Amino acid sequence: MSEGSLISQRFGIHQARIGRDFVIHFYGSSLQKFLGIDADINTAKSSDVLPEIVGIERIINTIIDGGSRETSIKRINRIVDGPLPAEVFFDLFIINDDRGDDTAALVIRDVTGETLIRQSLQQRRNEIHLLQQDLSEKNIQLMKSQKELRELNKGLEKAVDNRTRELKESIEFSRRLFSQTVNSLMSALEKRDPYTAGHQQRVALLAEAIGRELGLSEHAIEGISVASRLHDIGKIYVPSEFLTKPLGLSEAEFTVIKTHSSVGFDILRDIEFPWPVATIILQHHEKCDGSGYPFGLKGEEILLESKIVTVADVVEAMATYRPYRFSSSIESALEEIEMNSGILYGENVVKTCISLFRKKGFKWNA
Ligand SMILES: [Fe+2]
Ligand SMILES: [Fe+2]
Repeated sequence: MSEGSLISQRFGIHQARIGRDFVIHFYGSSLQKFLGIDADINTAKSSDVLPEIVGIERIINTIIDGGSRETSIKRINRIVDGPLPAEVFFDLFIINDDRGDDTAALVIRDVTGETLIRQSLQQRRNEIHLLQQDLSEKNIQLMKSQKELRELNKGLEKAVDNRTRELKESIEFSRRLFSQTVNSLMSALEKRDPYTAGHQQRVALLAEAIGRELGLSEHAIEGISVASRLHDIGKIYVPSEFLTKPLGLSEAEFTVIKTHSSVGFDILRDIEFPWPVATIILQHHEKCDGSGYPFGLKGEEILLESKIVTVADVVEAMATYRPYRFSSSIESALEEIEMNSGILYGENVVKTCISLFRKKGFKWNA
């Protein structure tokens, strides 16, 4: 084997010659080995060892004649027999190399390595393409899910908004209904005793103002307002002629009138107010020194709310016309509570009430 042939093999080139009879003349043994045939044979019919040539015989003759320079068949693929059958790829060239011996050069270039690399690259590219496709489908799915989620969220937000609005409306309605009920109860009493019409409402206005001035919470002030508007509800059980009597009441009649705070308690005790309304009413005629009724409670035993209602009640009653007494003035009402501050009435409450009238200009609207 020549040196040139070794180099050729190294670069995957195998050579032979082909004649007009389409018989292949081998030299060396590299092409035989490459094609997986007996290395000792020198000639072979091309249709036996390279059937790819069948069909291009006329072109081969034209090349041998010098009418054409070369032809080629690319990427021929075959399984070569051997101890280990192997798949090979090769390009086949028929070339006129001007030997003038009625043959042409037959050159085989082994492209197995690069073809396999190319195939594997293509396979990798296909895999990547599939992965990208999968990824993009997942992305689309994700975007769809996100959109669905956003829509779901929007729906939820809307439902929560609607429910919140309904709830607010329902709370507003309940508050209105509650306030209307309290006012109805209030006017039920005042229907029997027209002289005290508006008394409880005015007591409520003053008691709320005292509570606010004392820094009580809005919730506590609301409780004081409700208790004030109902504080004399127990008088519903007192005969109306006692209530409207122009002159002094007998002791027996006064005893009946005095039941109104416990009767008020009994009427309201089973209502689940969020404030101690019934107890505030029960204690609204108690006095700090224990001289009040029904229990003669003292100082700290009396609820602050009751002390507030008591002061507002006394001031309103004294400042307003009553059948059994001519109207005194607000000033004499304030003098009365000031004189009895800490004795009958809570000191802080009295101080706050006086400051409301004298310094803050508190007035009941006409
Ligand atoms: Fe009363
Ligand atoms: Fe009263």
